[in-house]
Amino acid sequence: MAQSRSLAVPCRAPVLALSFLACVATGLELSVNNHAADFTLSTEPGPPISLSCLVHNSSQAEELLWYRGDGQVGLKEGNKVNISNICISPVNESDNGVTFTCRLARDKSVQVSVILDVQFPPQLSGEETLHVEEEKDVTLTCNSKSNPQAQSTWLKDNQSLTLQQSHHEIYQTSEIFRLSIKKVQKSDNGTYTCVVESPLGLGTRDFYLIVEEKKPVFPTEAVIAAAVVVSLTILFGIVARKDKLFKCFKKPSREIALN
Ligand SMILES: *[C@@H]1O[C@H](CO)[C@@H](O)[C@H](O)[C@H]1NC(C)=O
Ligand SMILES: *[C@@H]1O[C@H](CO)[C@@H](O)[C@H](O)[C@H]1NC(C)=O
Ligand SMILES: *[C@@H]1O[C@H](CO)[C@@H](O)[C@H](O)[C@H]1NC(C)=O
Ligand SMILES: *[C@@H]1O[C@H](CO)[C@@H](O)[C@H](O)[C@H]1NC(C)=O
Ligand SMILES: *[C@@H]1O[C@H](CO)[C@@H](O)[C@H](O)[C@H]1NC(C)=O
Repeated sequence: MAQSRSLAVPCRAPVLALSFLACVATGLELSVNNHAADFTLSTEPGPPISLSCLVHNSSQAEELLWYRGDGQVGLKEGNKVNISNICISPVNESDNGVTFTCRLARDKSVQVSVILDVQFPPQLSGEETLHVEEEKDVTLTCNSKSNPQAQSTWLKDNQSLTLQQSHHEIYQTSEIFRLSIKKVQKSDNGTYTCVVESPLGLGTRDFYLIVEEKKPVFPTEAVIAAAVVVSLTILFGIVARKDKLFKCFKKPSREIALN
């Protein structure tokens, strides 16, 4: 702990010095939607967002640049000098956490960033039927994406699922919620519901897990024997038909001759 703190200090000092120099060099300030420092903008999917970047205290015309993450945004002529507006339309879930930055072209260290906080409820629904043979493994996966982060649980036949060690396994990220069942038993048959709940709402998805009788082990030798019989039968069939093919062929030619 003490070590990482002592490392952090010399690291931060040059950064401060640089931004101080940048301010002195240009004497300029930017603002985005009237914020002179970085800020977070909370919104929801759908309605467009407009971001307006302005140069303050400039003594000459200043060109502005916009970035989405690391990528530069193409701006039209007339939307670059002293003031520049961009519109995000429509805002969607994938814009969550994305940073938009306005920079001074002449001195890119002069910048203001906006982080989008796109809030949306869990986005899962529907149902799925899975047929699984006894003793096989099965995995049920649902989309648990939401912002703010949701609480996820599994139900079996409308009751909270009791996890059995080394039989059930749960895996969760901010994007997916997954239940694996190892060596499925008859007693695992039933309806599993993935429930994802956030302050903005609740999403569920049903999985009908149908456990089927274990199929008998495949009798390999019998199959090979059967395959040999079938191919011999086909072979003799073709040989037998060869004669007929010949006859058919000869007949029409004779007819032509007769005509
Ligand atoms: C920039 O202008 C604002 C008023 O718009 C003023 O308060 C501020 O001191 C000025 N900053 C610099 C560096 O000149
Ligand atoms: C930008 O601002 C500067 C300084 O205020 C001014 O001289 C220049 O005419 C402005 N340019 C445009 C296109 O607004
Ligand atoms: C969000 O919008 C972008 C571009 O407008 C699009 O490529 C992407 O597929 C959209 N994502 C969703 C989840 O709708
Ligand atoms: C679970 O509950 C819902 C409504 O409460 C009901 O419609 C459904 O039949 C129940 N499912 C099972 C498997 O019990
Ligand atoms: C197995 O589960 C499915 C899905 O919930 C259900 O429809 C079916 O009746 C169950 N079968 C048995 C034998 O319990």
